[in-house]
Amino acid sequence: MWNNKTIEWLDIELTSFCNIDCPGCFRQIKRKVVNHILDTEMLSFEKLRKWITPKEFPKLKLVNFCGSIDEPTLHPELLDIVKYFNEHSVSINISSNGSTKTEKFWHDLGKEKVSVFFGVDGIDQKSLEKYRVGANFKKLQKNWRAFINAGGKATWQFIVFEHNEYLLEDAKKIADEEGFDNFRVIYSHRSDNKESKTKTRNEEQEIVCKYGIQKRVFLSHTGTLLPCCFFNSEFLQVHSGGGNETRYTKKYLELGGPLESNLKYTTPTEVIEGDMFKFIVNSWNDKPLERCWQTCKKAKQDVFVDEELK
Ligand SMILES: C[S@@+](CC[C@H](N)C(=O)[O-])C[C@H]1O[C@@H](n2cnc3c(N)ncnc32)[C@H](O)[C@@H]1O
Ligand code: SF4
Ligand code: SF4
Repeated sequence: MWNNKTIEWLDIELTSFCNIDCPGCFRQIKRKVVNHILDTEMLSFEKLRKWITPKEFPKLKLVNFCGSIDEPTLHPELLDIVKYFNEHSVSINISSNGSTKTEKFWHDLGKEKVSVFFGVDGIDQKSLEKYRVGANFKKLQKNWRAFINAGGKATWQFIVFEHNEYLLEDAKKIADEEGFDNFRVIYSHRSDNKESKTKTRNEEQEIVCKYGIQKRVFLSHTGTLLPCCFFNSEFLQVHSGGGNETRYTKKYLELGGPLESNLKYTTPTEVIEGDMFKFIVNSWNDKPLERCWQTCKKAKQDVFVDEELK
């Protein structure tokens, strides 16, 4: 299924830091278990440069800076990291709440021609902070303007809740006027967020591995390489020393934990061709791991609706 020589897409969770508190985020939902690992660690540029090389990932086309607990723009070396991937002709996408740093930073980021998904689930301070608790609309607006004016490709990402559904058309209009390239609507599946809307889809009859098909893997802020972002929640819980035992977490510990899957101790090839990836893939033939079943059979992922504005 996976082979690092054919991987085209890498998700990277750059940090465990964030500046705001969205109630449906894993940071909040699992706060009791993961609190002590939040706002502590980040992947250094030095490590990334050493691990993610053209030799290890010769077919890499896209790096997506978006994890489960990170605000990527808080990484102090983000511009250097972006330049590194740009030099290797790898496209870059960043997911951000946008209420970070300075206009100068966002201008410099825009100059690098990256794509940024701004999480803007409202059209003013009042509606934004209903979900993006602690975000600053004025700052976010200044930042997206600096980014777009410098040539960055911006997507306005709007998560639909009961409290903001009526603002959807207004948000689209503002996004268009402000020079965003795209508008993405997310109908969230997150059950912990009571307000989130669910759209059901036809069930698949077997596991269709979303990441495998996309030739994509996920790198956690700890350096652990995972088959997909969906396993990051279980990984973060076992890494924090808490959470429920699952077949995945049991196997993770049995195989030596970080020794088997963390790039500090092993190579991407060894992880991707290693026992954990095999264990997950083999489970599909007989008794799929719960996570795979929930995510890739029952199609419980978020539903995305993209619209081009330009
Ligand atoms: C944990 S965030 C990390 C990136 C960045 N901090 C951000 O918020 O964009 C990963 C993704 O989850 C999205 N997200 C946050 N809350 C969500 C929810 N309730 N339902 C669906 N997606 C959500 C974010 O907008 C982002 O695209
Ligand atoms: S901005 Fe992103 S990482 Fe931060 S709390 Fe919200 S969803 Fe989570
Ligand atoms: S949950 Fe399982 S099947 Fe789905 S993308 Fe991840 S590894 Fe593949």
